[in-house]
Amino acid sequence: MSKYINKAVFAQVLALILVILAVPMMAWAGGGGGPFSAGTFSAIQVGLVLFAVISAWLLKGKMGLPMPKLIQAPLLWVICYVGFRIILTPPIPFSLLAMYMGVCTVAIFLYCSLTTPSWEEFSHPIAVMLREDHGTAKLSRYATFLIVPGLIAFQTYSQMLPSFGEPIELRTVHPAPPASINLHKKTYNLQTAENPFRVGEDGNYLKVGDEAQYFGGNAWTGDVPKFLQQVQQGGTVFFGTAGCFFCHGDNLDGKGPFSFAFNPIPANFADPGTISQLQETFVFWRVAKGGPDLSREAFPWASAMPPWEKHLTTNEIWKVIIFEYWHTGFFPRTWG
Ligand code: HEC
Repeated sequence: MSKYINKAVFAQVLALILVILAVPMMAWAGGGGGPFSAGTFSAIQVGLVLFAVISAWLLKGKMGLPMPKLIQAPLLWVICYVGFRIILTPPIPFSLLAMYMGVCTVAIFLYCSLTTPSWEEFSHPIAVMLREDHGTAKLSRYATFLIVPGLIAFQTYSQMLPSFGEPIELRTVHPAPPASINLHKKTYNLQTAENPFRVGEDGNYLKVGDEAQYFGGNAWTGDVPKFLQQVQQGGTVFFGTAGCFFCHGDNLDGKGPFSFAFNPIPANFADPGTISQLQETFVFWRVAKGGPDLSREAFPWASAMPPWEKHLTTNEIWKVIIFEYWHTGFFPRTWG
């Protein structure tokens, strides 16, 4: 009999571990990441569960302190939850967490119910609570039947309660630009317009990419190539005439002294997600027309970006754009 029980207990623990191991294995198949590989994470997770199961067994066998299955089960559940919620990085979405925890719940239930004695051990306190007639059983019965429906009622109530939180903002940061814009009495077709200050030493248009030769140089040392002269004048617009740096920052990282007052925050040009993703003419449109010309899905009413056509000449706008790309070392996107 005891041999049979030992085997059954062994099978039980094995089943628990296999199922709990299967979950991170699935995660592994889905592609891991973070400080641990999925393999290490599986080892940690299984190690924790094993540790808990062996401790319970030792407590009972060696120290005479039995730990009822009814207490072991929620403990194991919490260990699994902590593993998936805190140890596993990057964090998994709630839907996945719910799925993994569902699998763990089944595994833990199996662990508690695989042999008749363990099922008895697990269910006995529940049965006592439900049917015995003595004081403690009664008390815990009433408590359970008050607390559980109470919790469900509270949960339902808080879900139904109308909430006054702000609606989620689904702002389009880079909406489609118009086909053409009017600026200082001239029409610019955004597909064909070119930055007139993108010039090489020969005074000809400098193809996107060719300006790399000027990256890293100092545009303020006096006798500099033509391109860097434009950069320098653009820098004067950025730091002087217009003061873009108040919002977009000295390092063009969007952390200017005013930036903290705005939501959405001023664009961070040093981030590869902004000007390096945009055509030069898109940036031209954005600088000239600012927040007010954005389309509805970009929340024009929320953008603090001023329409610079009212304060800068067309040439100053083109030059500040040259400066922004040069300073960050990015190339504008091209149509080709
Ligand atoms: C009052 C603060 C403020 C000032 C000053 C300011 N900006 Fe902005 N700018 C913003 C904010 C806020 C955004 C982000 C919201 C948006 O896209 O409209 C932005 C966005 C931009 C974008 C769009 C980037 C993208 O990824 O779509 C460009 C380009 C830009 N600014 C250039 C400039 C230039 C050039 C100047 C100076 C001539 C300037 N800004 C001055 C606040 C400012």
